[in-house]
Amino acid sequence: EKEAVFAKKFEILKALIKNSRSTVVLTGAGISTLSGIPDFRSSSGVYATTWKSYQVEEILSISFFKHNPEIFYAWAKEYWYKLDDYKPNTVHTALALLEQKGYLEGLFTQNIDMLHKKAGSRKCYEVHGSAEHHHCTNCNAYYSYHWVAPIVLTGQVPRCTECGSVIKPDIVFYGENLDGFTLSRAYEMFNHAHLCLVLGSSLVVQPAASFPAYTVHRGAPLVIVNAQKTSFDGSATLRFTDLQQFSEALEKYLVALEPRKLLV
Ligand code: OAD
Repeated sequence: EKEAVFAKKFEILKALIKNSRSTVVLTGAGISTLSGIPDFRSSSGVYATTWKSYQVEEILSISFFKHNPEIFYAWAKEYWYKLDDYKPNTVHTALALLEQKGYLEGLFTQNIDMLHKKAGSRKCYEVHGSAEHHHCTNCNAYYSYHWVAPIVLTGQVPRCTECGSVIKPDIVFYGENLDGFTLSRAYEMFNHAHLCLVLGSSLVVQPAASFPAYTVHRGAPLVIVNAQKTSFDGSATLRFTDLQQFSEALEKYLVALEPRKLLV
C-alpha cells in the first residue's frame, strides 16, 4: 500500500487503539504466511491444490479422520508436524506487545500453529484448538505435540501406549464442535469490545467468521487487515491490505507507547 495513504489511515488506528477500553483481535492463517506456513484460501494456500488426489478440506473432516487416520497423518506430516521449524513473525510479536502494554482484552485465533503463545501472548484463545495437545480417541489419555511429532515424522500413525487406539490432535476438524467455554468467551468479549481488529482471515468459516459482527452491530469500530476482500469490508472503519507493513508500523507504535495504567 502507498506509504502516504497508509500513514494517514495508521494515524486513525493509533487513536482507536489508545482510546479503546476493550480491544479484541481475531487472527487467521494469513498471519502465519509471514512465518512460512501456507494459509488455506490464497492462490498458494493449501486448498488451492489437491494432495495425492484428496481435497485437503476432506482430509480435515472428522469422519474422514476416523476412517483414514493414516492419510490425515501422511498429509499432516508435511505440514502440521514441522511446526517447530517455524518462528513467530512481526504480527505475532506486535500482538504480544499490545497485550504487554495493557491494550488487549483478548486474542482469538483460528490458527493451530502455537505461534501466538510462542510469541508471548497469554490472553490467547485458540478457537480451532491447537497442535500442542493430543488425546487417545478411545481412553482419552493425553499426549503432547513433542511426543507425537517424531512418530508422525517417521510416517507412522501415533497410537496410545495404554490401549493401542489412534491418537488425535486437539484440533477442531470439520464436523466437530468448538469448545463451548472458548465460544462463550468469544461472544462475551466481541459483544463488549470497543474495538475489533481482524488480521489475516478470509472470514468465511463459521462461527469465528461471525465474531466481528458482535462488535460491529453495536456501532464499535472494526479494522480489517487482509489482502483479499472479506464480506465484512463494508462494515470496516479502516481497511489495510498488507500484514507486514501493518504489523511493522504497529510494533513501532507500541514500543513507544506508554503502558496503560490500570485502575485499581
Ligand atoms: P484463509 O486461508 O481462509 O484466509 C487467509 C487470508 O489471509 C486470505 O484472505 C489472504 O488473502 C490473507 N493473507 C495471506 N497472507 C497475507 C499477507 N501477507 N497480507 C495480507 N493478507 C494476507 O484462513 P482462515 O480465515 O484462517 O480451519 O481460515 C479459517 C479456517 O479455515 C482455518 O482455521 C481452517 C480452515 O479450514 C480448520 O482447519 C478447522
